[in-house]
Amino acid sequence: MSDRTHTAPNDLRAFWMPFTANRQYKSAPRLFVGAKDMHYTTHDGRQVLDGTAGLWCVNAGHCRPKITEAIREQAGELDYAPAFQLGHPKAFELANRLIDIAPDGMNHVLYTNSGSESVETALKVALAYHRVKGNGSRFRLIGRERGYHGVNFGGISVGGIVSNRKMFGTLLTGVDHMPHTHQPDKNRFTRGEPEHGGDIASELERIVTLHDASTIAAVIVEPVSGSTGVLIPPKGYLQKLREICTKHGILLIFDEVITGFGRLGAPFAAQYYDVKPDMMVTAKGLTNGVIPMGAVFVTSEIHDAFMQGPEHMIEFMHGYTYSGNPMACAAALATLDTYKEEGLLTRAAELSSYWADALHSLRDCPNVIDIRNTGLIGAIELEPIAGEPTKRAFTAFLKAYDKGLLIRTTGDIIALSPPLIIEKHHIDELFGKLREILQNNI
Ligand SMILES: Cc1ncc(COP(=O)(O)O)c(C=O)c1O
Repeated sequence: MSDRTHTAPNDLRAFWMPFTANRQYKSAPRLFVGAKDMHYTTHDGRQVLDGTAGLWCVNAGHCRPKITEAIREQAGELDYAPAFQLGHPKAFELANRLIDIAPDGMNHVLYTNSGSESVETALKVALAYHRVKGNGSRFRLIGRERGYHGVNFGGISVGGIVSNRKMFGTLLTGVDHMPHTHQPDKNRFTRGEPEHGGDIASELERIVTLHDASTIAAVIVEPVSGSTGVLIPPKGYLQKLREICTKHGILLIFDEVITGFGRLGAPFAAQYYDVKPDMMVTAKGLTNGVIPMGAVFVTSEIHDAFMQGPEHMIEFMHGYTYSGNPMACAAALATLDTYKEEGLLTRAAELSSYWADALHSLRDCPNVIDIRNTGLIGAIELEPIAGEPTKRAFTAFLKAYDKGLLIRTTGDIIALSPPLIIEKHHIDELFGKLREILQNNI
């Protein structure tokens, strides 16, 4: 039978789903057909509490009226404008609004359509920056073990999640990795930043000594590693990275795709940890996840270095058909309005202690070997079932879905990152349901 003989609308075979166990999923599909504020509605009419803000992106909650309306209006007014050598007002307005909430000195923004594209853009800016400054020998990019920077070639090259890298050949050359900071034996069940591991940053000095600073363009890290299972930076770690990069003229890039737009209780992790990078990579919460969009923030120093040569010449040969797409800009502007009106960029700071208490109350559940948190992020690490890694957490995910709760799992770690509009009673419900699941010795 040909694959094309069954193409009824409810035939699930044609869509090869991303980061999904396709065969398992299609044997028992989970479909969302609606969403409002803290909840999804499933195809069989159940309400599911969103414990993950979709995929760490729906920071203002679902189907927020201002955002929906802005997209609707924009679609009828200006649907698309070419992004090269032309513009439209909202692209400029949005960039100004973004630099208003960014750390001081981050005065310029390049648009992309995803976190992965933001990463590629930042890596290219870094290489080109050194070249326009006459330092073309700085071609190396340094990432970190267990880092996640999306799925494009630059991102998986500097990234450090083995399963995302191993199938794809030689990747980018000239890349090295710092060690990750996870030290479970020393930091188990820490609330906030771990005490131990700040000194791991000095491994960057070793890498600089190995390759020589004159060959290194940039270091890229997630301030809090998300997709690898929530690794919170140990005390002093990010500060030390900053010192080493400054000392050697290396650009420091923060990948804030998850930490950006209020996740920790400040607009960006750079402000929360009071460490200023040279570039910030963002996406997700920029448009509340509603329309694909990313933004890369750069300092004036980086931007200005490119503004030389004949004025009719393009200064940086890079961009996307949809960079600053009008609908995305309208969605982002309405998202920023919503964040501002509801104080969402700092709300995580108000709730984080209640959140941490509820999260850490699960410490006594069977098979829980670590719990970690910062802002409105939490992780529960489970003892893997012998010989069946990932199965225990995936079982928790399936049981949670059946109980009306959306969680995310990576390996045997449950990661939580709810919309920032979450109320205390939702937090109680979320951890109450998780306790019921974990207590049953899955
Ligand atoms: C830190 C980080 N960088 C980059 C990305 C990639 O973003 P996208 O999936 O939008 O390409 C993600 C996605 O989860 C992320 O967490």
